[in-house]
Amino acid sequence: MSGWLRVVGLGPGSEKWLTPEALAVLQEATDVVGYVPYVENLPASITAEKHASGNGVELERAAAALRLAAAGRRVAVVSGGDAGIFGMASAIFEAMEKGEPQWRELDVEVIPGLTALLAAAAKLGAPLGHDFCVISLSDYLKPWPVIEKRLQAASDGDFALAIYNPASKTRRDQLLQALALLRKQRSDDTIAVIAKDIGRADESVSITSLGEVDAAQVDMRTLLIIGSSHTRRVGRFIYTPRYYEDRP
Ligand SMILES: C[S@@+](CC[C@H](N)C(=O)[O-])C[C@H]1O[C@@H](n2cnc3c(N)ncnc32)[C@H](O)[C@@H]1O
Repeated sequence: MSGWLRVVGLGPGSEKWLTPEALAVLQEATDVVGYVPYVENLPASITAEKHASGNGVELERAAAALRLAAAGRRVAVVSGGDAGIFGMASAIFEAMEKGEPQWRELDVEVIPGLTALLAAAAKLGAPLGHDFCVISLSDYLKPWPVIEKRLQAASDGDFALAIYNPASKTRRDQLLQALALLRKQRSDDTIAVIAKDIGRADESVSITSLGEVDAAQVDMRTLLIIGSSHTRRVGRFIYTPRYYEDRP
């Protein structure tokens, strides 16, 4: 049997956001590898052998998946949203770089998924309709000064922001510091959105302003959107226009 490995983005929650390509790969796989909640909540039609592991062991999981593929298995490594955005795809390539030389010759493909920001933005209208930046506030994998510098640059450029990993149970200060930095430069009236569990049973969307973001509402299942100075409301929708009034 000739093995392969596919890194599969499952979408941000609901099965309706699992692409037909991702579903087909999962159905062909002999093994599914991933973080416990993703592996445990796969569609019922997936009969592959399941290898679930916890948080923080991404490289070990990736190496184990590459090993299975090298042994001839058809392996789907699953990730929430899109696997290439703060997901397992980078871990696979890092494990490949650090691991056995023959892993580089394996049949590996990344299957795109719907990332959380696309699902959240669509719920609201078009808040990311013009230039925007994506940033993770987690200083677990990168130092805080790097995050601060990037937030400052995005703020200087008047980009709308999609903020992943804004807070967790133990990581609360980073969000407060990020909000303080943004409030120095952007008006308190700037539109802000707390989008939680998008596409899941507990979905909630709270539209507020930068000055009034309630950090207590924000957790690791939340995506935060901060508008640019052009982001505005129309009826119940939010959008950022694709043009500037003073364009040439
Ligand atoms: C490690 S990142 C993974 C992102 C994922 N690969 C993606 O493309 O959406 C986890 C962060 O994604 C965001 N996120 C993922 N799914 C979400 C959802 N359904 N609703 C809101 N935010 C979500 C949250 O900010 C969460 O802390």
